[in-house]
Order: sequence, then structure tokens, then C-alpha cells
Amino acid sequence: MAWAHPHLLGIADLSAADIVDLLDRAEALVDADAGTLLSGKVVVNAFYENSTRTALSFQLAAKRLGAHDLSMSVAYSSVVKGETLADTARTLDALGADAIVLRHAVSGAAAEVASVVGCAVINAGDGTNEHPTQALIDALALRRRFGNLAGLIVAICGDIRHSRVARSNMLLLTQLGIKVRVTGPPALLPDETPDGVAVMSDMDEAVAGADAVMMLRVQHERMPDRLDLPLDLYHERHGLTEARMRYAAPHAVVMHPGPINRGVEIADALADDPARSVILDQVTLGVPVRMACLAALVA
Ligand code: NCD
Repeated sequence: MAWAHPHLLGIADLSAADIVDLLDRAEALVDADAGTLLSGKVVVNAFYENSTRTALSFQLAAKRLGAHDLSMSVAYSSVVKGETLADTARTLDALGADAIVLRHAVSGAAAEVASVVGCAVINAGDGTNEHPTQALIDALALRRRFGNLAGLIVAICGDIRHSRVARSNMLLLTQLGIKVRVTGPPALLPDETPDGVAVMSDMDEAVAGADAVMMLRVQHERMPDRLDLPLDLYHERHGLTEARMRYAAPHAVVMHPGPINRGVEIADALADDPARSVILDQVTLGVPVRMACLAALVA
């Protein structure tokens, strides 16, 4: 099936069929040898916010497909001289970029770039809006573990309000028939959630019977005031502990998009348990998922 969208700005733009198509393409690339599908194409990573997993896996994905991959170093770029996002994007386009992979602190930044360039734009996280490739990774990790996704229960826990990962996952997982619950401290719950998402104030209730528990970091950098909750209390009320995990289904998996704040949102014993944690599988799947997205948009 030919890919119909010029950009990947968010899960909100995708149908269930589009999502399954990308997951199938990514699955086919999981153990694939490096290829030349994007030979001669130029992929530019423009990351205005810090990143380890997302930036490196996009780079690796572009390399595995045979593309020229460039990473724009924002700190050493003309951004520091006052160049606007739109002008920087036009510059990358004029240099011959076939895709711009953008991470930015402002919600809607990827859509802004898409509106001024001729090449494909992939949103690698824009403010509190969306992080579509992370949600695709998470869905693929679940599909590889459980097979059929419809009817699964996924509890997303922590800073839902400021998390673009939570938002993209709420949109994606509900489209695939997953029952999504979100929970966290009242100040970190969102004002609105997509249809079909249950908001729960009590974490034990949210975790009860869940097939997967997805933990999120508290995004202090996106809050005007510090969260008025000491870290030990946060861990006790909203962290994933061994005791709390016992409420989940016996086969339940632990997920986290990273970076982890150990001992805050998640206990070491759970983060490091190879039988239950799929956290590093999520990282590994970042490469085939991003290869699939780049190939769909640029090849
Ligand atoms: C997340 C992000 O940047 O949105 N990380 C990621 O991409 N894997 C989550 C976070 O920063 O906590």
C-alpha cells in the first residue's frame, strides 16, 4: 500500500489502517539487513530539545536505509543568532533535505515547519503535543508481546498532562481497540482526553488487571511551578512499586519511553526485571519503527 501522507506530524492525522500499515512495515524491518532504499536521500535531524534514544535511533534508521544523515547542532547553529524556526527549516529544505526530523519545545512546531517546506517533516516530539514515533514503538512492543491488541488494558501513569508520549499513545492505542487508563497526581492529569480513555485518580485502581503499565517521567521543565509533592511521597502514591505491580495481570509488562528517574516513578527492581520490563525492547524497536516511517515518507 502506498503511503498517502506527506508528513508524520501526529497520530491524530492517522487512521487505524495507517497505524497498522506502519506497524507492519516496522515489523518487516526488525531483523532486516542494512539497505539502500534511501540511497542519495538526505535526512536532517533538527533537535531543539535534548534527546538520547530518539535522536540516535533516527540517525541509525537513516544510516541503515543508506541515506545521508545530518544532525543539526542547534547550539552551534544560526538559531543562536536569532534565526526563526521557519527560516532554519527553509534553509534545510534549500540544502536538499528530503526529510526534516524535528524535536522542539513548542507544541505545533512540526506543523509550522511542514507549512513552509517542500520536504517531508517527521515530528520527533513537539512540546506537550505529540510524539508519534514513540507511540508506534510502544504499540509494536505490545503487539510483539501479546499478538492481538484489541481488548488489552494499558495503564499510563505519571505526568500525563505534559507528556506528548501519553497523548500520542492515548490516540493510537484507543484506535486499535485497547482500553486505556491514565492516572497521576491531580496536577498532572490532563484537562481533556481522547474518547475512550478512563481518567483515574487512584493508581492501584488504574493498575488493577492491566496487561501493561506504562510509566512516565515528571516533566519539570514544562511546569511553571515545581510539583508540590516530595519525591518519596510521589513514589509512594504514584510510582510503580513491586506491591502495586501485584494488582496488574500476572503476565503484565512494564513500559517506559525513557529517560527513567529511578526510585521516583519506578522502582529499580521493576525497571531492571527482564521478565517484566520491555523498556530496552522499546529502545531497540525505535530503529525499525523510524526506518519504516522514513521509508514510507521519503522512498
Ligand atoms: C520522551 C520525550 O522526549 O517526549 N522521551 C522519548 O522521546 N523517549 C519522554 C520524556 O522526556 O520524559
